[in-house]
Amino acid sequence: MNIAAVQTAPIHGGIEENIERIASLTEGVRADLLVIPELASTGYFFTERSALAGLAESPEDGRFCRFIRSMAVGRGMVVVAGFAELAGEKLYNSALIALPDGSWSVYRKAHLFYKEKLVFEPGDSGFGVVEWNGVRIGTMICYDWRFPEAARALALAGADVIAHPSNLVAAASLWGPTMRTRALENKVIIVTANRCGAEEIGGEKLSFTGESRIISHNSTPLAMAGPDEETVITAEADPLATRNKAFNAYNDIFADRRPELYRA
Ligand code: ACM
Repeated sequence: MNIAAVQTAPIHGGIEENIERIASLTEGVRADLLVIPELASTGYFFTERSALAGLAESPEDGRFCRFIRSMAVGRGMVVVAGFAELAGEKLYNSALIALPDGSWSVYRKAHLFYKEKLVFEPGDSGFGVVEWNGVRIGTMICYDWRFPEAARALALAGADVIAHPSNLVAAASLWGPTMRTRALENKVIIVTANRCGAEEIGGEKLSFTGESRIISHNSTPLAMAGPDEETVITAEADPLATRNKAFNAYNDIFADRRPELYRA
């Protein structure tokens, strides 16, 4: 399959500009799966619910989600994109998973990072997998990377590929090797679409570390972006190769698990 990841620096609060930027960056990109960063609709750094509530949207009829769905249908790609979700009075840091047949689902970020806790509800969707053209795709968002349970839950649910929309502020020298480990320990392909640039609110500046990457199920980096560029990276990967969890005649990383010994 062909996989693509967008690395961009969204404009804070600039939904229309952010849609236009994604559209122009991905023009001509042909992929089976396209992953777009966390909160790509609105930008990242909000410390008050009231500042984000007017920009957040429902996945059914929000402007950004309609755009993502039209990309998926019009170009025959699965598109996974981070957005700020409004559900009644509640805000979630979510990802839309849009399929080429017009169907869609939402993952709500389970593990909230830093001042996200002032704004969002902790996600309640759990870790689900969708299937398109025989490929199973699971989604987690950014800080979920620090929890091996997130990638493991997706792999146990059958994911061949984990889409990982992100706004990472940790050094890539820290999260990069960890994502290679997540790929290796689960034998899954991982697509981290990170953002670049910086945002400042109330005198506090967050800098995002870019270096988006596509990692094979053997933990090999297949494609990588630089720290600061707005770009699209692409790679070919074999999703079916992830299904055989053995790595020699005696060891299979799923069959060898001892869950009965893992209880705290
Ligand atoms: C993060 O979860 N955006 C660091």
